[in-house]
Amino acid sequence: MLSIQNSVALIRLDRPPVNSLGHALRQHIVQQLAAAQADPAVRAIVITGSERAFSAGADVGEFGTPLQFQEPILPNVLAAIEASTKPVVAAIAGVALGGGLELALACQGRVALAAARVGLPEVTLGLIPGSGGTQRLPRLVAAETALALILTGQPKGARELAASGLFDAVVDGELIEAAVNRALALAEAGAPFPLARHRQPDAAALQAAVEAQRARLHPRQRLQPAHGAALDAVAACAQPFDQGLQRERELFLQLLSSPAAQALRYQFKAEREATRLPANLAAAPRTVDLVAIIGAGTMGSGIAIAALDAGLNVLLLEQDEAALERGRQRIGDHYRERVGAGKLKAMVAADSVARLASTTDWHRLAAADLVIEAVFEDLAVKQQVFRQIDAHARPGAVLATNTSYLDVDAIAAATLRPQDVLGLHFFSPAHVMKLLEVVRGTHTAPDVLATGMALGVKLKKTPVPCGNAFGFIGNRIYNAYRRQCEFMLEDGALPEEVDGALVSMGFAMGPFAVADLSGLDIAWRMRKAQAATRDPRERYVAILDRLCEQGRLGRKTGAGYYVYTDGKPAKATDATVRGLLDEASQARGLTRRPLAATEIQRRALLAMANEAALLLAEGVASRPADVDVVLVQGYGFPRWEGGPVFWTRRQDRAELATQLQAMAREAGHGFALGNLDALMAQ
Ligand code: COA
Ligand code: NAD
Repeated sequence: MLSIQNSVALIRLDRPPVNSLGHALRQHIVQQLAAAQADPAVRAIVITGSERAFSAGADVGEFGTPLQFQEPILPNVLAAIEASTKPVVAAIAGVALGGGLELALACQGRVALAAARVGLPEVTLGLIPGSGGTQRLPRLVAAETALALILTGQPKGARELAASGLFDAVVDGELIEAAVNRALALAEAGAPFPLARHRQPDAAALQAAVEAQRARLHPRQRLQPAHGAALDAVAACAQPFDQGLQRERELFLQLLSSPAAQALRYQFKAEREATRLPANLAAAPRTVDLVAIIGAGTMGSGIAIAALDAGLNVLLLEQDEAALERGRQRIGDHYRERVGAGKLKAMVAADSVARLASTTDWHRLAAADLVIEAVFEDLAVKQQVFRQIDAHARPGAVLATNTSYLDVDAIAAATLRPQDVLGLHFFSPAHVMKLLEVVRGTHTAPDVLATGMALGVKLKKTPVPCGNAFGFIGNRIYNAYRRQCEFMLEDGALPEEVDGALVSMGFAMGPFAVADLSGLDIAWRMRKAQAATRDPRERYVAILDRLCEQGRLGRKTGAGYYVYTDGKPAKATDATVRGLLDEASQARGLTRRPLAATEIQRRALLAMANEAALLLAEGVASRPADVDVVLVQGYGFPRWEGGPVFWTRRQDRAELATQLQAMAREAGHGFALGNLDALMAQ
């Protein structure tokens, strides 16, 4: 049934939650359009969605299935809109993304709520817009605006785009009324109706902008096929419209089955799945309104900002007034900078700061629903703090530790209520990094775990459940990876060769550059703490210890694995490091040999995969894909490579087994071999 108001047919997109353009919805649009053409009572047409979404674009779940190509495919839905004998106006509330925005671009008019957000996120899925986005958008808006939307994949607010040419009108309320008025005005003016396809792009300006962007592509973007293809598609705007459309479609179809697009779709699904507890652990969360944070240092302040941004009330507690003041200052500076940079409205910042209270009085903890401890990484200090928390927090409050490596059970044991204790491992900077490891202690109650997961979602993070074992998921895998990279130094590689090989496959940084950045002394301290229990037969690479003994603690001391001048690392390692490498190889009885980048990459990936298999067998990770989410979101693993589990699944099983055996032999005593079968199952 067609809904007609005031001679305007209203086509409502109604496919919760976000109106993704699956087959049924595409069919609905085409049928309603046809009905509207046929009905003499209809003068114009408005297409609208829900408050949350006009449409989030193509149905990602349909990708790779026959439904994606079942008629009417999206380009043909858009063709039907363009061929309409009555003007069609898109009325946009919520988000219009990907195919959703493309649908709007094909319409004869567009009206949006100021709060709506529009974008072309295809590159984040390893794709380019495949239904005319790269052809119509540059015909409506300036080349720079179009390229920004297409290349970053980041949506923009309609208010910001109000004068861009994308919309006929941006309104603060009464969206449908505005769209109906626009549709009737178009009908009144009569054919030909304005269509993006009829506009002439400024070919020279577009070409110049495309080439400028091509030269500016980040090395990580160059490693993925989508960004270059997006530029090629935009460049095709110089051709007649239908030829450009065809070129875009060809590029889209090529990308659709590319390994990068597969990996990015997998991550899209995995990061949403990670936030849900496996069925055997599911429970209803406790209610959280006031979060108390103990320790207002680097992490405490960052966690406070994340909680304030999410609308929660925050109480900061420190050991003395001076430390408290430093924390408050840090948080205040953050909001001042955001406002100063125009990224946050002063009113919003003021509202956040108004929800922040601070104290040195432990009695005030009684009002908190959730307490997050972020004091020094020292078990005795943390246990003392938890005794205090236990004495002051109300019964039923959830008690969390932000420890990176300490045993959550040992911390919980300092309280009389270990069932209320869990780990919430935030990453630094805590208000930026999306990853949150939610750590289940032996006694953690199911609803306490669920509260940690719900908090993560509330903070717009990706909470991943994990068991309480040294390093949880992320640091445990990272340690195995770093250790393998240290073996490679002894075998014959230079730090810049290892880092270079990993950066060239897309890691944000190599392990030795990361170590220098975070400071070698952190690892040195941990190594010294573990020295007494280390089996002397295990392969232990002491290069880091030797560097620290020489005062080379990393970037902050001007030298670590690399020497730094004005904060910039020298391209090659210096004679001191080369000398240490030679000594280390000799001590191990190894003749140094060059390692090819492919060997370095493969060994690094194998080490991660092996550790992932061990973690799954131990129940530290509940699902293989959780490991990939952790590595991508917290450790700079290239998202378009999917993660170590995704990688493993694409390898030859027998070859992996042989290489793992060799790796175990070379690692020597104590190297545990994981069973990769646990990772291979899809
Ligand atoms: N196709 C299929 N399902 C989609 C989807 C799409 N394009 N976009 C979102 N969904 C689903 C999500 O998987 C999720 O399902 P779940 O609840 O079963 O996990 C649900 O819609 C809600 O999405 P979520 O991301 O959890 O909600 P949000 O409010 O944080 O964000 C969006 C909503 C639309 C902004 C976000 O989901 C998004 O950016 N989607 C991708 C859009 C896109 O890339 N489109 C182009 C495809 S080529
Ligand atoms: P930090 O030194 O910056 O801050 C610690 C704060 O705790 C200080 O302000 C200190 O005054 C306060 N504090 C110490 N004892 C206290 C007590 N008894 N009562 C109240 N406050 C007390 O440390 P950080 O880097 O913020 O690390 C905090 C925790 O977060 C550690 O467990 C660390 O392992 C973990 N963590 C850190 C990072 C990181 O990258 N910095 C990342 C993840 C987790």
